[in-house]
Amino acid sequence: MRIDIITIFPEMFEGPFKHSMIKRAQSKGLAEIHIHNLRDFSDNKHRKVDDYPFGGGAGMVMMIQPIAACIDKLKSERTYDEIIFMTPDGEMFDQPMANKLSLTENLILMCGHYKGIDERLREHYFTREISIGSYVLTGGELAAAVVVDAVIRLMPGVLSDETSALSDSFQDNLLSPPVYTRPSDYNGWVVPDVLVSGNEKEIKKWLYEKAVERTRSRRPDILER
Ligand code: 6GU
Repeated sequence: MRIDIITIFPEMFEGPFKHSMIKRAQSKGLAEIHIHNLRDFSDNKHRKVDDYPFGGGAGMVMMIQPIAACIDKLKSERTYDEIIFMTPDGEMFDQPMANKLSLTENLILMCGHYKGIDERLREHYFTREISIGSYVLTGGELAAAVVVDAVIRLMPGVLSDETSALSDSFQDNLLSPPVYTRPSDYNGWVVPDVLVSGNEKEIKKWLYEKAVERTRSRRPDILER
């Protein structure tokens, strides 16, 4: 899988993909992440990427030219399954969408900024628009990092069997049950008896019941999906 990220702040991606699972996915050759500085594609001598909105109003609008030039170059090199615009007014990102995207081969994620991007790009270039939640971030960069993490960890070979994504919260429309580790008694706070009983069948039943209980009280919305 290859993910191309278009941004005016490439430095923001120096941290998130250099650790843990996402780093491992890249070094194992399962995933490639390429960061593109939008300013490199500006035909303006000052590397300008934004301009004043027609009709007035506060804030700047990202121009068509640099974004079109970057996407056109990438599209000339390979076929993309999705060309995604990261924006707070996009479709809400969730686990089913992460599952779907993890089955693709080539993705472009464009990070929005300022007041937005020229509407014509949204009409003619992007196949999908994604938001990660009902709040506004200063730009699409952190949101893109969230999507990349959620998608890459689902790829076969990224997680071990033990940490398999199949047992994740959300994957069966259930939150995860509570977990415990040693000591079994911490100053009188004890681990539920069933977990130290050695009875596999009872343990499985208990974990399932706790997962259902937790989902019903915290996220009844996903239980009904
Ligand atoms: Cl994708 N971008 C921005 N700027 N804010 C967001 C978002 C995206 N998703 C939630 N808030």
